[in-house]
Order: sequence, then structure tokens, then C-alpha cells
Amino acid sequence: MLRYSPLVLLQVLTLLRVSHCIDMQALLKAFTSACQSPSPSKVVIPKGEFKLGEIELRGPCKAPVEITLQGTVKADGNSIAGREKWVVFGNMNGFKLNGGGVFDGEGNAAWRTNNCHKTFECKKLPISIRFDFLVNAEIRDITSIDAKNFHINVLGAKNITMDNLKIFAPAESPNTDGIHMGRSDGIKILNTKIATGDDCISVGDGTKNLHVEKVTCGPGHGISVGSLGRYVHEQDVSGIRVINCTLEQTDNGLRIKTWPSAACSTTASDIHFQDIILKNVSNPILIDQEYCPWNQCNKQKPSTIKLVNISFKKVRGTSGNKDAVKLLCSKGYPCQNVEIGDIDIKYNGADGPATFQCSNVSPKLLGSQSPKACSGPVTKAL
Ligand SMILES: *[C@@H]1O[C@H](CO)[C@@H](O)[C@H](O)[C@H]1NC(C)=O
Ligand SMILES: *[C@@H]1O[C@H](CO)[C@@H](O)[C@H](O)[C@H]1NC(C)=O
Ligand SMILES: *[C@@H]1O[C@H](CO)[C@@H](O)[C@H](O)[C@H]1NC(C)=O
Ligand SMILES: *[C@@H]1O[C@H](CO)[C@@H](O)[C@H](O)[C@H]1NC(C)=O
Repeated sequence: MLRYSPLVLLQVLTLLRVSHCIDMQALLKAFTSACQSPSPSKVVIPKGEFKLGEIELRGPCKAPVEITLQGTVKADGNSIAGREKWVVFGNMNGFKLNGGGVFDGEGNAAWRTNNCHKTFECKKLPISIRFDFLVNAEIRDITSIDAKNFHINVLGAKNITMDNLKIFAPAESPNTDGIHMGRSDGIKILNTKIATGDDCISVGDGTKNLHVEKVTCGPGHGISVGSLGRYVHEQDVSGIRVINCTLEQTDNGLRIKTWPSAACSTTASDIHFQDIILKNVSNPILIDQEYCPWNQCNKQKPSTIKLVNISFKKVRGTSGNKDAVKLLCSKGYPCQNVEIGDIDIKYNGADGPATFQCSNVSPKLLGSQSPKACSGPVTKAL
């Protein structure tokens, strides 16, 4: 029995099981009537496995809508190459998504034919879940697996909490970022496990007041602010806090990356990492202002993205390569006010010991650092 106050209209989706597909019309209809309801209402997708095609559930709605996904929805084959999204929740105030269910992007076939890391001739693949322009939203107890592209993309959000999510794809799956965000203020990501083939969390331009706590990341490419500076109309990034997280077997750990010869001059400020455990993480702490994959930029022109008020404190564990800490700042705009607290990173490989490199930055040191701060000769970024 589901109990709600009498004001709450309960919309239990009657699934018309047409060969185990969710009837898109039935889902849209349930959503539309929930959205039109003057009091808070709820749509339940029950236990079971259903195919679901590309769908956009957008407001504005008259009152908050809650969607409870109990079952597993699988991306219908139609939404493969050339499409940019699978499920969109957009333009709502007070939206909730929960229920313990699973979004299965069925990426396996698509990854093999469409690896954008290896070739430029690749079609866009759909992002599994898009949260567009949500205000005061709560996303809880949801699993996303095998997205064809990013698992979750948050754009234009204001005050959105993501709690107890599970996001999984194989380590070798391309571009399967866990949570990517941009142009958003007040995102919280809590108690979440992310293991994919790309960044666990990637922070795009215009992100403000992001709080990441108790997230376990790996395998994958770690937690990344940027890349910043690739496009002309980018916005500043500020107020990023990553605390009490564990990174395991990732290719990078805590990373800030900006393009040289950037297309814009923005500032990324107030970015803090604290209480981080590393387990065999390559490049555990990395500021890279010469980020230029596939040589798509002019490396001679220094990055014009300013990095200000940044700290790494209580970061400890093991590195997967000797580059334990690399702070490679822009020679045009040296990093300002970088604080390094207690750091204890070990590397046991034959080419060791671990190094700590600094370029165009004079970090303020607090507590103790191992390896010794700014002691290593500077080698190029990746
Ligand atoms: C943020 O959203 C949550 C969930 O809707 C709400 O309970 C909370 O009051 C909101 N916070 C602010 C500052 O608006
Ligand atoms: C991390 O968690 C520990 C144990 O719960 C707590 O003492 C510590 O204050 C937390 N770190 C931060 C930065 O909140
Ligand atoms: C950096 O921190 C200082 C001291 O807290 C503050 O005055 C300044 O406004 C900050 N700069 C930016 C760009 O956030
Ligand atoms: C550490 O990571 C490297 C790859 O970065 C891998 O080759 C190695 O097997 C890992 N070692 C352990 C002990 O997990």
C-alpha cells in the first residue's frame, strides 16, 4: 500500500505491455496528467523489464511531480547513433526521481562501432539521462548502467541533490562519463558509486556551488573540473567542494584541465578537495593548463583561464604512476593561492619514487607533503 495525503493524486502507470515495451503514449499521458495536476503527484513505473524509446518529460508543471522507477527500463534500439538523448526530465520545479530502478542504456553494440576517441568520424550517441533546467530536484536510489554516451548530464539546474546513485559501465567503454554538469548552481552528489570508462564526475563551465561527498570512483578517469576554455561563450566556475571520496584504479584522480590558446578568458575559483583516499590512481593530483588532446590547439599560446583559490588537503594512498602531484599552471596566468595540505602519496613502481612537480605556481604549504612539494623536475602533461 502506498500512502499519501488525500491531496496527492497517485498516478500508477498502467503499462500496456506491447511486447514488453513501455507504451510511450501511456507514459506520456500519465506524466502529462501528473504535470497538469494542481497538487503534487506521482507516476510509478512498476517492477519488471521494459524497453523504452527516446522520451522527453518536460514541464513546466502545476505542482511537483515525482517519478518512481521500480523496474528496469532498457534503451530501445531505435535511439542509437545520431540521437543525442534517451530520457530527458526537464523544466520542472520540485521534481523527484527515485524507486531503486535501473536505466540500462544498452551501450555495448554502440561503443564498438562508434569510438570517438579513436576516430573523428563518429556519430553522436545518446546521453542516457538528461536533467535539463530543474529547480529544487531530488534524484535518489537510481542505477544507470551501460550508457551509450554520458550516463547523466545536468544542465541549467538550480539546487539539485543526487543521492545514492549507482553508475556502472565497463572500464573500456568510451565516453561513458558518470555525471557531467554545466551552467548549474547548487548541485549535490552524495553517497554514490561510479565505475565507468571515462570521468566519474566532470564539471563543465558555469558550474557553481557543487558539493561532492562520499563518492567512490573507479575504474574511470577520476573527478575532473574542465576541460575549460575550448569554446567562446564559457562561464566562470566557482565553489567546488569534493570531500571524503575514494578513487580506485582510475587513470586520473583530482584534475583541473584547461586548454592552451583558450577561446575565452574565464576564472575557475574556490575549488577544494579534502579527505580523499587513493588506491592505485594514476596522476592523482593534476592541474593541467596545457590540456590539448589530439593536438587540436596551439600549445604555444598559454591558457587564459585563471585558476584561483584552490586547495588539496588530506589526500593519501597509492599512485599508479610516478606523477603523484603535477601542478602545471599557465605561464600567461600563473595559478593564484593554491594550498597544499597533508599529502601522502606512495608509488612502488620500478621507475619511482613518486614526484611532485610545479610550474607557474608557488603553492602555500600546510602540514606535511610526501613527495616533497615542488621537488620534481617538470615533465610535460599527458
Ligand atoms: C532545495 O531543494 C530541496 C528539494 O526540493 C528543498 O527541500 C530545499 O528546500 C531546497 N533548498 C533551497 C535552498 O531552496
Ligand atoms: C570526512 O569524514 C570524516 C569521518 O566521518 C569526518 O571526520 C571529516 O570531517 C570529513 N571530512 C570533511 C572535509 O568533511
Ligand atoms: C580568493 O580568496 C580571497 C580570500 O579569501 C578572496 O578575497 C578572493 O575574492 C577570492 N578570489 C576569487 C576569484 O574567488
Ligand atoms: C595499478 O594500475 C595499473 C594501471 O594503471 C595496473 O597496470 C596495475 O595492475 C594496478 N596495480 C594494482 C596492484 O592493482
